[in-house]
Amino acid sequence: NNKTDIAVFKEMKHHQEKICMLTAYDYAMAKCVSATSVDIILVGDSLGMVVLGYEDTLQVTLENMIYHCSAVRRGAPDSFIIADMPYLSFHLSEKQTRQNAGKLIVQGKVNAVKLEGGSKSRIDAIKAIVDMEIPVCAHLGLTPQSIRKFGGYKVQGKKPVEQEELLKQAEEVAKAGAFMLVLEGIPELLGKEITETVSIPTIGIGAGRFTDGQVLVYHDLLGYSDLQPKYVKRYADLNNNIIEAVENFSQEVKNGVFPAPENIYYPLIQQ
Ligand code: KIV
Ligand code: NA
Repeated sequence: NNKTDIAVFKEMKHHQEKICMLTAYDYAMAKCVSATSVDIILVGDSLGMVVLGYEDTLQVTLENMIYHCSAVRRGAPDSFIIADMPYLSFHLSEKQTRQNAGKLIVQGKVNAVKLEGGSKSRIDAIKAIVDMEIPVCAHLGLTPQSIRKFGGYKVQGKKPVEQEELLKQAEEVAKAGAFMLVLEGIPELLGKEITETVSIPTIGIGAGRFTDGQVLVYHDLLGYSDLQPKYVKRYADLNNNIIEAVENFSQEVKNGVFPAPENIYYPLIQQ
């Protein structure tokens, strides 16, 4: 398995082998994730929220993405890495779209880019980037860059007309040349229908059990973020583990227990 070859993921869909994707945002996280069987690292614009503390993903910049992507690459030199195209980086003109996708590849050193949406202009953006020999992952459903339009983080595709529209957009992003499709915040049945309809692998987050793979945000799965949406399963309790460890350190400093002789160069007293 050459993990830098996008054909691998199509093969996995064909063999009904589940694809696992996880986000990472820096060197240390990337080192941990790349030491596992996770197939794809996503440098998501979710970094704006879980790493930078913004209220939403909208203010994440291309420079933020490049900075974090290059750190992730240093931690995971051989992994397949996808970078999110942040808000406003693919909305203004075809030239800027191409330039920004190219910068993520050349300066961020990622293998592919991901962009949200399936409207006519997003399809054109996908085509323009694919035309530059850059693999594109599409992203449909509850796309967080659309919260102003949606009026918040609301499950999409509940009504039949929305389902029709999302199914149509899924076919269109595939036709435009996307090699993969992230489906976020949709009913399980729609996730299943889209997955059975399109030839490209689907990766779900809050999209049920039948997508070709699953993705989660690193901080969410580790219990290292504040929110716990329904689609998240916590596999660790990092927030509390860290608070406990840091409090122990602080207490030991205040009590004079730390540093102990083994932490001291040429200690004056051997104890
Ligand atoms: O930004 C992100 O982490 C994402 C995933 C949740 C799909 O887009
Ligand atoms: Na994202």
